Amino acid sequence: MSGRLVGRTAVVTGGAGGIGRAFARRLADEGAAVAVLDRADATDVVHEIEEAGGKAIAVTCDLTNPEAVGAARHEVTARIGSAHILVNNAGIYPHQPFDSLTFEDWRRVFSLNTDALFHTCQEFLPDMRAGGWGRIVNVTSNSVGLVVSGVTHYVASKMAAIGFTRALATEVAGDGVTVNALAPSLVRTPTTEAAGSAESFETVARMQAIKRSQVPEDLAGVLAFLVSDDAAFVTAQTLMADGGLVRS
Ligand SMILES: NC(=O)c1ccc[n+]([C@@H]2O[C@H](COP(=O)([O-])OP(=O)(O)OC[C@H]3O[C@@H](n4cnc5c(N)ncnc54)[C@H](O)[C@@H]3O)[C@@H](O)[C@H]2O)c1
Repeated sequence: MSGRLVGRTAVVTGGAGGIGRAFARRLADEGAAVAVLDRADATDVVHEIEEAGGKAIAVTCDLTNPEAVGAARHEVTARIGSAHILVNNAGIYPHQPFDSLTFEDWRRVFSLNTDALFHTCQEFLPDMRAGGWGRIVNVTSNSVGLVVSGVTHYVASKMAAIGFTRALATEVAGDGVTVNALAPSLVRTPTTEAAGSAESFETVARMQAIKRSQVPEDLAGVLAFLVSDDAAFVTAQTLMADGGLVRS
């Protein structure tokens, strides 16, 4: 195995899902040993990676439960070594108008999209800092820069992830750890294909400068760059990899 990430251990949350699966495969292709943390079974992703000659493990974990995240960290460290790379990708994006939202709905979104970032970073960051090298990428959304309705809880949780990214990056830069956010457009994944209509994909594609729907592979190479040595001087940023929809 050759590549920019040989000798690195990477953790990808939500790696059983659409975007996370592409992330796990790409990081393994680049040479990293990858731990896929998901509450769903990720053994098929692991098999795909192994068949391609890479190294991966599946760790079942509810990321909203701090004890479960702690146990996952122990398992990752014992099986493939302490993490150098953490990709906080798991997220949920229910569509619900504000007037029908309960506080429970709000908390459900925040507990994964925002609180889980706290849990994973609390667990995996100390070893990165001690080793003098680390990469954290938080997957957010270009919806933070758009006028969209029915997603107040989602946009607030993803905006919080951006604030967390910026603030944490400042604290850990001296230890060789970068923290960035990656913001996709509407991406074709099994979840969005099931929830959305052909029309919604076409509408978003028309709004982008690049007039086709985004696929997970459009993001995987950007992630591989952000977690590589090539991006050593890039931190506290939100990279809009969204086909030119949101202009910053
Ligand atoms: N797909 C899009 O259009 C799009 C657009 C912008 C941003 N994003 C963001 O990208 C990320 C991935 O999106 P996706 O479309 O691949 O999602 P997905 O639904 O395909 O996958 C999400 C994964 O997270 C896992 N998960 C959910 N709750 C969990 C929990 N409590 N503990 C552990 N794992 C849990 C699921 O099992 C699933 O495998 C999310 O953060 C999402 O907000 C997606």
